[in-house]
Amino acid sequence: MLVEVARSPRYAESMALRLRPYRPEDESAAVAAHEELLADDFHFLLGWDATVSWSDFLRVLDDQRHGANLAENQVRAVQLVADVDGELVGRVSVRFELNGFLATTGGHIGYAVVPAHRKKGYATEILRQALVVIRADGVDRVLITCLEGNAGSRRVIENCGGTFESTVPLEAEQNLCHDNGQAARRYWIE
Ligand SMILES: CC(C)(COP(=O)(O)OP(=O)(O)OC[C@H]1O[C@@H](n2cnc3c(N)ncnc32)[C@H](O)[C@@H]1OP(=O)(O)O)[C@@H](O)C(=O)NCCC(=O)NCCS
Repeated sequence: MLVEVARSPRYAESMALRLRPYRPEDESAAVAAHEELLADDFHFLLGWDATVSWSDFLRVLDDQRHGANLAENQVRAVQLVADVDGELVGRVSVRFELNGFLATTGGHIGYAVVPAHRKKGYATEILRQALVVIRADGVDRVLITCLEGNAGSRRVIENCGGTFESTVPLEAEQNLCHDNGQAARRYWIE
């Protein structure tokens, strides 16, 4: 049964957060967000580093969205910008399939909000909209995970109707959040 997820009470309708693909003009804001979150060992842009041109990155994202030229073990996925009135406030990665890592600790959906825009209800809204994206693609049982110590992400998942399943240990080399030694909490949203 698909449960309609209510908007966060913190989220003001006028803020009009929307998810959209990255564009050429997003480069400086996206790279700045990436560099800012790297200080916390978090990768805002998945698959990008300073050796990759923005235009090549956009081409890779487009391929990944269509399931083309996927590397071994890579799944069809989309990375979307969270845009509020033309400003990049966060991002989401929506994985339409699960590989071994995603099926245990990575999950279907990963999100981040830039520090200046946290605690405004944006992550809850990002996950709410990402659920619409993934359900439209036929995934109706969605795995979301967060680090045991990530109280904010845990609230976001629970706000969106996540049902806790179990806690699993993280393997260092498979840790998207690079916070070694922690465990991940697994939730399902149906
Ligand atoms: C975790 C994160 C996504 C939360 O984003 P956000 O936009 O601040 O979240 P929201 O504003 O939607 O907050 C949702 C709830 O979490 C609570 N919350 C947010 N950050 C919190 C924190 N650091 N500690 C405790 N609670 C927190 C909010 O108060 C809110 O509670 P409520 O529903 O009772 O009102 C953001 O801190 C972030 O990007 N962190 C780095 C990346 C990351 O950890 N991503 C998750 C991958 S596992």
